[in-house]
Amino acid sequence: MRSSSSLLAGASLLLVFGVVHCVIAANSFAGSNLYYAAGLTENEQSVLLENLSSAGMKVLRVWLDGQSTDQKGTPINPFPSLEPTQICNGTASCYNDTVLERLDAFMVASQAHGIKLLISMHSWNALDAGDVYEQVFGTTDFYTDPDARSAFDARLVHVLNHVHVGIGKPWKELKDHIFGFEAENEAMIGLGQSFIEDHQEWQCGRARTIRGQLGNNSGIAVMTGGESFLTESVQPGFLNCTALDVVSIHAYGVGDLLTSAIQPFVEQAQAAGIKLLFEEWGACFYDTENNDCPVGDALPTEVRNQNIRDFAGNITASGIPWLYWQVIPNADPHEGNDYEIGVTDPSWPTLKYAAQQTLQAPAAFDFSDYFSAPQH
Ligand SMILES: *[C@@H]1O[C@H](CO)[C@@H](O)[C@H](O)[C@H]1NC(C)=O
Ligand SMILES: *[C@@H]1O[C@H](CO)[C@@H](O)[C@H](O)[C@H]1NC(C)=O
Ligand SMILES: *[C@@H]1O[C@H](CO)[C@@H](O)[C@H](O)[C@H]1NC(C)=O
Ligand SMILES: *[C@@H]1O[C@H](CO)[C@@H](O)[C@H](O)[C@H]1NC(C)=O
Ligand SMILES: *[C@@H]1O[C@H](CO)[C@@H](O)[C@H](O)[C@H]1NC(C)=O
Ligand SMILES: *[C@@H]1O[C@H](CO)[C@@H](O)[C@H](O)[C@H]1NC(C)=O
Repeated sequence: MRSSSSLLAGASLLLVFGVVHCVIAANSFAGSNLYYAAGLTENEQSVLLENLSSAGMKVLRVWLDGQSTDQKGTPINPFPSLEPTQICNGTASCYNDTVLERLDAFMVASQAHGIKLLISMHSWNALDAGDVYEQVFGTTDFYTDPDARSAFDARLVHVLNHVHVGIGKPWKELKDHIFGFEAENEAMIGLGQSFIEDHQEWQCGRARTIRGQLGNNSGIAVMTGGESFLTESVQPGFLNCTALDVVSIHAYGVGDLLTSAIQPFVEQAQAAGIKLLFEEWGACFYDTENNDCPVGDALPTEVRNQNIRDFAGNITASGIPWLYWQVIPNADPHEGNDYEIGVTDPSWPTLKYAAQQTLQAPAAFDFSDYFSAPQH
């Protein structure tokens, strides 16, 4: 909370001095991801939020896919997917809003810790795992069939208009709790870079749907949801899309985690008048290539911690705010692709320090519209 008040103080200083200074510099920030946040118990929520807040983290990215079993060693309170049995195509009674209602409570707790949610409204992962959209359209036609696009747009509209059970307003009006919306985590990644390039207009189409609900002055960002690496994540058709506020970068390869590699994308985005967020990166627990992390020998803690310092330092030096994949509220059990850092793990103090340092670092993009003082 100390750091959230300093960020707000920074924002009001900008308002005061913005008149005299021609160039308004804004500071960076950091945050994290937790795809299964809707399944946290109250105790897990408070452990996670207190720790993220102590690191000065401002944004937590969450997903809407159901979870029935424990994830990453975190005991889960199970919840179904938003469209558990069929594509709902806008029929309100067909959606199962459990996940949205779970997040209603969670976003209130998050806001009390100075953290806003970034809501990813579907994931490539769910599609690839055979969800209702895959069953009807398959993983390719989901992006190309006009019927798939319109049924998916109806899902986005349903989410954006979900009325918060406590606050009584739709999510699209909750700028004090919600940082941004994106249509899908890593849309099309399993289909390869050339497919993404050939169908990049899918992103702008979905962004127009989201923008059509939010309007132009919502205080909530419209984002892309990232691809697998730098060149895939930043497409010309994303940069020139007026419905988008932010292009999301996901990258895990060491070659992409260098200031010199990131800088040209910053320049492209600045020239296009759009922002970048480094929405996913992580430091592998194992001694494998950093972007190939399912199994291996554990790196010595000090080596991994130096990687965390280097990667975070490089991204921050490029001027892009970042979200770590992922901080978890328990000791990391080293399951699956292993970038996670638990709040009791030996690498947490290192990541926490890197996150705190972003708040003093200049950013290449001014995100202050998304951190304005809460309205009461
Ligand atoms: C972070 O989580 C740990 C583990 O539950 C807890 O002991 C600690 O108090 C938390 N730290 C903060 C700053 O909240
Ligand atoms: C969704 O509903 C529209 C009519 O409201 C219909 O034209 C379209 O085929 C439906 N899509 C699916 C996937 O059922
Ligand atoms: C939504 O899912 C929950 C949990 O599976 C279930 O209890 C509830 O009946 C479902 N609601 C609707 C409207 O289908
Ligand atoms: C919102 O912004 C877009 C792009 O700048 C513009 O075309 C549109 O007219 C604006 N909409 C409103 C309601 O002002
Ligand atoms: C945006 O970029 C894409 C990809 O290069 C291009 O096809 C499209 O025509 C551009 N749109 C505008 C409005 O410039
Ligand atoms: C960027 O990362 C490299 C290692 O990949 C490291 O040598 C360098 O110091 C880092 N730069 C910054 C600014 O942290």
